Amino acid sequence: MSMQSQVKDSKTLPVKYPNLVAWENVKQERWEGELEVDGHIPHWLNGTYLRNGPGMFDIGDYKSKSLFDGYATLVRLHFENGRLTGGHAQLQSDAYKAVKKNNNIYHREFSTLPKPSNIFKAIGNVVGMLSGALVTDNAIISVIRLGDGRVVCLTETKKGSLEIDPKTLETIGTFKYTDNIRGPTQSGHPMVFDKELITVLPDFINRGYNVIRMLAGTNERTLIGRVNCKSSPTPGWVHSFAVTDNYVVVPEMPMKYAPYNMLKGGLLKWHPESKAFIHIIRKETGETVASVEVPPFMTFHFINAYEEKGMNSVIVDCCEHNANPTIFDKLHLHELRSFTGKDVLPHSRIGRFTIPLDGSPRGKLETAMPPEEHGRAIDMCTINPIYRGKMYRYIDLKEKTEKSNWHLGGSIPSEPIFIGRPGAEVEDDGVVISLVSDKDGNGFALVLDGSTFAEIARAKLPYGLPYGLHGCWVPSP
Ligand SMILES: [Fe+2]
Repeated sequence: MSMQSQVKDSKTLPVKYPNLVAWENVKQERWEGELEVDGHIPHWLNGTYLRNGPGMFDIGDYKSKSLFDGYATLVRLHFENGRLTGGHAQLQSDAYKAVKKNNNIYHREFSTLPKPSNIFKAIGNVVGMLSGALVTDNAIISVIRLGDGRVVCLTETKKGSLEIDPKTLETIGTFKYTDNIRGPTQSGHPMVFDKELITVLPDFINRGYNVIRMLAGTNERTLIGRVNCKSSPTPGWVHSFAVTDNYVVVPEMPMKYAPYNMLKGGLLKWHPESKAFIHIIRKETGETVASVEVPPFMTFHFINAYEEKGMNSVIVDCCEHNANPTIFDKLHLHELRSFTGKDVLPHSRIGRFTIPLDGSPRGKLETAMPPEEHGRAIDMCTINPIYRGKMYRYIDLKEKTEKSNWHLGGSIPSEPIFIGRPGAEVEDDGVVISLVSDKDGNGFALVLDGSTFAEIARAKLPYGLPYGLHGCWVPSP
């Protein structure tokens, strides 16, 4: 299930939306309160939706350039017996505290680093990046609930793992790993299960990917296995990856890390000359069971993967940007803020890899759901988490099943999340939750029927909130 960019009525809305707050600073540091619900929230929906993402872009003299340069704003929606309370708070990372104290950027963010005013400060930047002191801990990408109940915000730097209290949104502190596994970066989307977390760390020294496990209740990561890069010059970017019941799917795409740029801008670079690969690692043994070339691809987010029974292959779905990296340019804030109602983001598609496990050297990549039939998929897909790693109905190439779409012209819905009804026996029995910023500067929490996408409840927020990025569900005990 995905929510599309809300541009269907762009022809009738040729004006800018000066009040749209999706890409603007959150109005204040913190708010919480009860929300008036219009509609009916199912009484089985008891728990807390947490969402992370950039929400404070301009502080003092610092003006964020990219969406990913903003400082993390946590949002909370707590559902209890049909009632809803909400709140938001700034993540108190060292990077956020420093930018407030200095009235300017102090750590290196995604596309920006402190501008040295003299040679000594330039040398200080070099030393700070090499020592890690200037590496950001602004954990803006995701918020995850570990199997032991701890809740952690993440970004792609190792430093950027911060534990929070899901009830108060207070920042508890840095989530400290107790192992000696090296690597300054990590996937922003580890796969979390009741008993373990699985993630992928790029290896810049030996040019490869380390597949990592951390058991619930511990802070110690262990190596499951590793696979070497098959293309040069550096490992491909691993924002996300996928798992099946038995395998970890490690992508190697032409969008690669650019550590040599650490002192001058973007840390990722598209290498059109590089080939693309998908590696399949067996979860239990770390053995590489396939390492195949695939057509070039560009993705932020894998949707799901599963083992195709009887076919000796693995199916891997992702939001694929037609091997076009220009999406990064379009996520600059000046581009996002110039939204006129017209299509401003490059087209993308739901791409499906078929990865053979029989020793064949190449895998397939095709469009799973034609955009002209399904609508344009931008990104931020969600599925019923019970079906993670397993055959699932949405998306199905044979049935080409699609959901109805929820749509409100001029509004920006954030990443949806699916919550299954307890006792459900079919995949779409549940609700979809999202937060929406509308063109008037307002915002509301939205609850849709997971099967029909009919709106069943909305609750107006005191003011619109920034778009954010990713969230998680914390069920009530
Ligand atoms: Fe992401």
